[in-house]
Amino acid sequence: MNSDRLLLLAIETTCDETGAAVLEGPRPPAEGVPRIVSSVVSSQVGLHQRFGGVVPEIASRAHVRQILPMIDEALKRAGVSLDDLDAVAVATRPGLVGALVVGLTAAKALALALDVPLVAVDHLEGHLYACQLAYPDRQVYPCVGLVVSGGHTSLYACQGPLECEPLGGTIDDAAGEAFDKVASLLGLGYPGGPEIERAARSGNPKAYAFPRSFIHDSRLAFSFSGLKTAVLYALRGQNEERGDIQPSPEMTADLAASFQEAVVDVLVAKTRQALKQTGLKRLGVGGGVAANARFRERLVEMTDKMGVETFIPPMSLCTDNAAMAGVALLKLAAGQVADLDVDVTAGLVRPGRGA
Ligand code: KG4
Ligand code: ZN
Repeated sequence: MNSDRLLLLAIETTCDETGAAVLEGPRPPAEGVPRIVSSVVSSQVGLHQRFGGVVPEIASRAHVRQILPMIDEALKRAGVSLDDLDAVAVATRPGLVGALVVGLTAAKALALALDVPLVAVDHLEGHLYACQLAYPDRQVYPCVGLVVSGGHTSLYACQGPLECEPLGGTIDDAAGEAFDKVASLLGLGYPGGPEIERAARSGNPKAYAFPRSFIHDSRLAFSFSGLKTAVLYALRGQNEERGDIQPSPEMTADLAASFQEAVVDVLVAKTRQALKQTGLKRLGVGGGVAANARFRERLVEMTDKMGVETFIPPMSLCTDNAAMAGVALLKLAAGQVADLDVDVTAGLVRPGRGA
């Protein structure tokens, strides 16, 4: 390997995707955006499908099975061997503890065996840094960051990739989780986002007046559980005893379209509020919900009006992947190396703090 370049192996096991990636970045003090040399992901969607959501125990076991094959595959595709690596990075927070532990244990073992630094990264910082990886020639930071996925709905003010301060987030379900739960109520498949989006195409977004929680509130908070309940009541009335009702295709389409519009309204309004409050002129977006065409259309319409530049990576970098842990190369340059006794953290931690 070229000695003025650093080669990083990155590992992702925060939820239900096992990812490994090889990135190449400039050796400090030189600066620059790392290049993704290879990135592979093994999705567990098929394993969780029949449960309508991620089952933590199943996720951990699948990571155990997939982590070494993914690392091997990432190295193979990059055309490098373990001995070429200069550092190992892993997302240690936030996520499912049992899932996080699998990635962290693999990363620790490799760092110890290869005698290279271990770098612990925040999964949400990674999601936002994916914007910079996707647009290496553009300036993404400082920006407002919006992570909107199955596990997260959070807004950040990011002065830089490692300086993201939380502005607010969901107090209950994440937006993607709401898509998944409502899809399940409507008898649609998992993951629910694409299914709802498909059903919504032929529906009327104004058919049902669903709640838009916090939309007129100055706090940058989200809540989607009331919306989910409103869909349930619209579906079967408030009488629990009516049991499961299979709505007609027309009703399904209208419920899906009205639900989707409510989520999009809230996401766009709160992001607009965050941009106004911070005065930042760039927006970085991460997470699987960014796949939603209606959301993207409305978001870009809003940011265009505000003169805000919007960065949405291609879907392979929006959904969970290991390449986004390439933010580790910046941490390495800043001397933020983890000790081998570093632990995982389930909940949200203020990004930019700690190892
Ligand atoms: O980022 P991601 O792959 O995984 C994590 O949750 O970390 O996001 C998956 C989530 C799921 O909840 C899924 O329903 C949602 O993203 N999603 C969508 C769409 N595609 C995926 N939500 C709305 N519309 C979509 N087209
Ligand atoms: Zn994620």
